[in-house]
Amino acid sequence: STKIAIAIDGPAAAGKSTVAKQVARRLSYIYIDTGAMYRAITYKSLQQGLELEDEKSVYEVLVQTDIALVQTKDGQNVLLDGQDVTEEIRKQDVTNSVSIVAKHALIRKEMVERQQAMASQRGVVMDGRDIGTHVIPDAEVKIFLIASVEERAVRRHQENKQKGFPSELEQLKREIATRDKLDSEREVSPLVKAEDAVEIDTTSLSIQEVVDRILSVVESVK
Ligand code: C5P
Repeated sequence: STKIAIAIDGPAAAGKSTVAKQVARRLSYIYIDTGAMYRAITYKSLQQGLELEDEKSVYEVLVQTDIALVQTKDGQNVLLDGQDVTEEIRKQDVTNSVSIVAKHALIRKEMVERQQAMASQRGVVMDGRDIGTHVIPDAEVKIFLIASVEERAVRRHQENKQKGFPSELEQLKREIATRDKLDSEREVSPLVKAEDAVEIDTTSLSIQEVVDRILSVVESVK
C-alpha cells in the first residue's frame, strides 16, 4: 500500500513519543522524534557555555552540528556529531532549557529544513509541536494529542521512577506547565492544533487505545 506521512503534535509529556513509536512499528514506518533534535542542540549549547537567549551564537553552532536519528529496535538513538547522547538529552537541565532554544526563528528554520528532508520519502511517523502546521503541512494524517497537566506529570513521574531518576511530582507539574506556556506563546510556529488535525484526549485512555485510534484514522485515509 502507499506510504503516507503521519504528524503527531501536542504538549509536553502527552505520550507522543510512546504512541508514535508503536504506530511506526505497526506500519513498518520510520519514527522521527523532532524534539530530540531541539534537545541535542540545547545540550551542545549548554556544554559550550553559550547564552541560550543569544540566537545567533546558537545558530552558528547548529549549522556546524550533525544530528543523526538512528532507528533502533525499540525507538531511536540520537547521535550528536557522532556521539550517542540519547540519555543525556533527557536530563533536567536540557528539558528545562530546550524551549528557550526552540523559540528562535533561525533555529526553527534550520530544523524544519532538516526534518522536511527526512520526511520527503513518506512512510514516516513524526512527532513534535509544529509537524502538522509547518514541517509536513500536507501530511495525510495529523493527530493532536492532549492530556491534563496532572495526568502528564503523573505519567512522567512514574517513568522517571522506573528509570531510577530523581523525581518530584509537584515540581514536574510546574515544569510541564511552564514548558507548555513557552511553547504555546512563542512568536514563531507556536504549539497549536492544525485545523485538519484529529484531537485525541489521552487522559483516560491506555497507550494501546490511543495507538488503535490513530491506526483507524490511518486506515480511513488509505
Ligand atoms: O518532544 P519533546 O518534549 O522532547 O520536545 C522538547 C522541546 O523541543 C519542546 O518543549 C519544544 O520547546 C521543542 N520542540 C519544538 N518543535 C518540535 C519539537 C520540539 O519546538 N517540533
